[in-house]
Amino acid sequence: MQSIKKVGIFTSGGDAPGMNACIRASVRTALHAGKSVVGVYHGYQGMIDSNFEEMSSRSVSNIIQLGGTILKTARCKAFRTKEGRQQAYDNIKTAGIDGLIAIGGDGTFTGAEIFSREHNIPVVCIPGTIDNDLYGSDFTLGYDTATNTVIEAIDKIRDTAASHDRLFFVEVMGRDSGCIALNAGIAGGAEAILLPEKATAIQDLCSQLEIAAKGNKASTIVIVAEGEKNGGAYNVAKAVKDRFDFYDTKVTILGHLQRGGSPSSFDRVLASRLGFAAVRHLLAGSTRVMVGLWGNEIRTTPLEEALNNKAFKLSEDMLEMVEVLSI
Ligand code: F6P
Repeated sequence: MQSIKKVGIFTSGGDAPGMNACIRASVRTALHAGKSVVGVYHGYQGMIDSNFEEMSSRSVSNIIQLGGTILKTARCKAFRTKEGRQQAYDNIKTAGIDGLIAIGGDGTFTGAEIFSREHNIPVVCIPGTIDNDLYGSDFTLGYDTATNTVIEAIDKIRDTAASHDRLFFVEVMGRDSGCIALNAGIAGGAEAILLPEKATAIQDLCSQLEIAAKGNKASTIVIVAEGEKNGGAYNVAKAVKDRFDFYDTKVTILGHLQRGGSPSSFDRVLASRLGFAAVRHLLAGSTRVMVGLWGNEIRTTPLEEALNNKAFKLSEDMLEMVEVLSI
C-alpha cells in the first residue's frame, strides 16, 4: 500500500449544517499529518470539470459557524455513467489526488463505493444530511440543527394557531425518512405526525383530530413529512378540511429553510470528530468505509453494509406516545 500524499475533499448531495465544520476538521487534520489538500468544488461534478483548489489552514478559517458548504455541492447525473467516472478519475489523477474524503448522504456513498472499486482509489465517507437516515451513525451532520429549526418554527406556528383556534398542517423535509418529522413533532407537542414509513389513512387521522377537538384544544398541529403516502400537507389538509369545517385550516411548508443556518454546538462537535477520524482512517489505509457515531464512540462501517441497511426504524411506541401526550 502506497502512502497517500494528496487528499481531495468534497461535499455532495443536499447541503447540511455542519458540513463546513467538517471540511475545516478534515483539511486541518490532513495538513497536520503533512499531506497536501485539494478542495473539490460541486462534488462529483467538480471532479468531472477539474474544479479543484489547493487548500491551506487559512482556507478554512472562520467557517466552523457557517451553514451550507464552502465547497458547494451538486447532485451529478454524469457521475452515474462509466464515462463520467472515467473522466473524473483522469482529472483527479492529473491533479495528484490519491485519496478522497466524501461528505454527504446515501447518493454520495453509492457514488464513492462504485468509484473507489472501479478505479482503486481510497475513499472514506462522512454522513452529512439533515435526514438522519444513514446506517452506521446514530446521527448525521445537520440533523440536530435542522430539527431545532423545525421546532422553532412549530413554536411560532403554535402561537398564532392558538390565538385563532386553528388547525395547522406543517410539512417538513424527509422524502424517505420520517426522522425529522417524528422527533420535531414530539418536541413541538404535535397532535399527529404523518411519516413516509407508515401509511396513515385519512379516516384514522380524523379520529385522532376528533379527540383533539373534543378536548377543547385551542390549536392543533399535524406534522406531515414530505414523503408521507397521502401526497404531502396540501393533500392531507384538503382531505381533512371537509370533515372539520368548524376549523380554520392552514398549511405551512417549511421547505429548504430547514437546510440552512448556523450549525448547533452538537453538529459542530460531531463534524469536528468525524472529519478528524475520517482523515486519520484514510491515512491509516482504510477505504470504502464511513465514519459514524455509535453511542459516544466514533466507529467505521463498510460502505456496502451502510448502504444495505436501514437506519431509521419507525418506533410504533413513539407514535403511540404522540397520541397519548396530545390529549
Ligand atoms: O436529503 C436531504 C433533503 O433535504 C431531503 O430531506 C429532501 O427531500 C431533499 O433533500 C430535497 O432535495 P433538493 O434540495 O434537491 O430539492
